Amino acid sequence: MTVRDLIDLNEMSVEDWQRILKLAEEIYQNPDRYIASLNGKIMATLFYEPSTRTQMSFQAAMMRLGGQVIGFKSPANSSVTKGENLKDTIKIVSGYSDILVIRHPFEGSARAASLYSQCPVINAGDGGHLHPTQTLTDLFTLMRVKGRLDDLKIGLCGDLKFGRTVHSLLRAMAQFKGNKFYLISTPELAVPQYLLDETGAEVVFCNSIEECIGELDMLYMTRVQRERFASMEEYERLKGAYILDADKMKLAGKDTVIMHPLPRVDEIDRAVDDDPRALYFKQAEYGMYARMALIMLMINEADAPRRDYEISKEEILCTNTKCILTQEPYMGQRKTESGRCAFCEGEIK
Ligand code: NCD
Repeated sequence: MTVRDLIDLNEMSVEDWQRILKLAEEIYQNPDRYIASLNGKIMATLFYEPSTRTQMSFQAAMMRLGGQVIGFKSPANSSVTKGENLKDTIKIVSGYSDILVIRHPFEGSARAASLYSQCPVINAGDGGHLHPTQTLTDLFTLMRVKGRLDDLKIGLCGDLKFGRTVHSLLRAMAQFKGNKFYLISTPELAVPQYLLDETGAEVVFCNSIEECIGELDMLYMTRVQRERFASMEEYERLKGAYILDADKMKLAGKDTVIMHPLPRVDEIDRAVDDDPRALYFKQAEYGMYARMALIMLMINEADAPRRDYEISKEEILCTNTKCILTQEPYMGQRKTESGRCAFCEGEIK
């Protein structure tokens, strides 16, 4: 692998992604061949934020490869409640394990963990920032149903501002030629401009599902991320903006697949579930195979180089109030080559 840790999928090379997807397919076809591949290895899952699929699919992935799992489901039953900082927790737990999976409500937390970890770190969602293993799930699903990752018309609908799955997916799919993105959101929930600038993705802004669903190869629905809103009134106002129902599905092509990272709230009517184009439950299952391939490669290549950023010598300050540095300031401000915060990619003053 190009890098030791999976913080942002785009730090790995497209060849790395292809190796992961190829192995995922191989494991999917022949799971019995891999039941002892990670015998004697331990994964730690540190979930500082709720999760059903991501946590369980990582655990199931490790167990199906013959490995074992330690960790916590909520910081409430860890030493975090005694005031332990992230650095100390990571130093300790990474000494017990061969791979560490972290989900955390603050943006940049996975990068922060990678600074102190003795073993490879996987970002299982850092606030509203990124969620690279959901993207591997999405890429694996697309490969299985479409047979390709290029020349696709992709609709992204719902909370494109706080939806970390959308950010990672857009970044990844923009790497392949000919992909076109239809961004369906209210102006308040639009994709952050820095992602559009950086990816140079070809985008079409849409106000409704109806106006573009007929053109799409895939429609990616997402939930409005209630927990990331500063105001509940704002959430209430925006939450029902886009609902995919059976009537709208009539406007979709026969091969337009519907994906969703789940959990669904009410943005997809249950009547759509039985439509053969609705892939979201299968997608969640494919995610386990994508994660099996990922952890096998990461553990076997744990000596891959680590992406590091030095503490800035100039006085700089990340302006993102959800940045992990607001919680763990001792880590020190660092910036990327493009001048953004090296933890959360927030703007720097
Ligand atoms: C997503 C997440 O946690 O970002 N869920 C998941 O991992 N499948 C999407 C969401 O919570 O809306």
